[in-house]
Amino acid sequence: MKPLKVGLLGFGTVGGGVWRVLQRNQSEISRRAGREIVITQVAARAADGSLERAKAECVNATVVDDAQKAVRDPSIDVVCELIGGTTIARTFILDAIAHGKHVVTANKALLAHHGTEIFAAAHDKGVVVAFEAAVAGGIPIIKALREGLSANRIEGIAGIINGTSNFILSTMRETGASFAEALKEAQRLGYAEADPTFDVEGIDAAHKLTIMASIAFGIPMQFDKVYTEGIARLTREDIRYAEELGYRIKLLGIMRRVKEGIELRVHPTLIPERRLIANVEGVMNAVLVKGDAVGPTLYYGAGAGSEPTASAVIADFIDMARMHTADPEHRVPHLAFQPDQLSVIPILPISEVTSGYYLRLRVLDRSGVLADITRILADHSISIEAFLQKEATQGEDEVDIIILTHNAIEKNVRAALSKIEALSSVKGEGILIRMEGLY
Ligand code: HSE
Repeated sequence: MKPLKVGLLGFGTVGGGVWRVLQRNQSEISRRAGREIVITQVAARAADGSLERAKAECVNATVVDDAQKAVRDPSIDVVCELIGGTTIARTFILDAIAHGKHVVTANKALLAHHGTEIFAAAHDKGVVVAFEAAVAGGIPIIKALREGLSANRIEGIAGIINGTSNFILSTMRETGASFAEALKEAQRLGYAEADPTFDVEGIDAAHKLTIMASIAFGIPMQFDKVYTEGIARLTREDIRYAEELGYRIKLLGIMRRVKEGIELRVHPTLIPERRLIANVEGVMNAVLVKGDAVGPTLYYGAGAGSEPTASAVIADFIDMARMHTADPEHRVPHLAFQPDQLSVIPILPISEVTSGYYLRLRVLDRSGVLADITRILADHSISIEAFLQKEATQGEDEVDIIILTHNAIEKNVRAALSKIEALSSVKGEGILIRMEGLY
């Protein structure tokens, strides 16, 4: 059979990895795919040095500085978009689809924002858009959700899906560093970008959650409905107190099917330290999926990096080599469910979400303070699961108290917290962090 010809757009960290792994494992890959997979064109940029690198490394391919050439080249079967961003990457992908090419992309932001448009265009043209590398890097979570678990009604997913944030939280816990210090270390090691907003504010995780939710529940991509809260305001004190109570704090992407709809949220979360996922450290990712038939399953691995991400990209090439000649009705649907079977299920606002809560309050160390606080909690039907009070430092008359609640509705907890903060014995604002027992 003739080789599958790929045009690679972008020769950065991931592009370089795709080239290397494909060269190194060519013979194994061909035995699996049933035909050779060859990158015949590479488009890169002079400005960032990637063009020179590509020219030096990709000796058998045509290296160009104009991505449109690769997109429109009639000999190319698959366009692999590794440029990133939501502007020119979108244009190139839509152009490639319009020219009848299959597309592989690692671009989670693009799919989270424009997935509906891109998949509709691909459907109309009878081509495939594959995106295993867009979520959790090398972990084949898209394949697992779309195919391996397709007999299940997915009940919930909780994932550590941003390695940079996980590295920062691990460093804070292990070394007692502040958020700012741990971020600096992540930047020194090249894990965090100079502008870390996407990673530390939970936006990157929300992009990935949007994509997984669509596949897990058969719903349209709805990035704007994801509640997103990052880790920048977490303190080392909260990480230490959580640990004393037997919990770790992780930035989780959570989706859960409940009676009233679907919860979609990214936020720092206390999880019991005995859970496997609580022990995922550094830049590693993990995704916990609960299906009604299979029960809880856990997927662990590198969520970023050159060759781990290339592993996912090339797996998509292999799928394409295998299904290239299959007619569109016999392919695995992009979003796991048949395109006319996506359903509109309400996404709950964060005020309606049910969770456990960690509350930290700075209070005067005198009689009656706790009684006032627990009365307010009881008035809002909030039950206390655990409690921690630290002795006052000598000379101070204020102490930290930490309350863990049983599951409660967020709006009730917020209302109770406002009343508690209004007590004269309570100093400043309380800290609220959500808590999940997981499966
Ligand atoms: N910046 C991401 C992370 C990797 O830190 O996990 C790419 O999605």
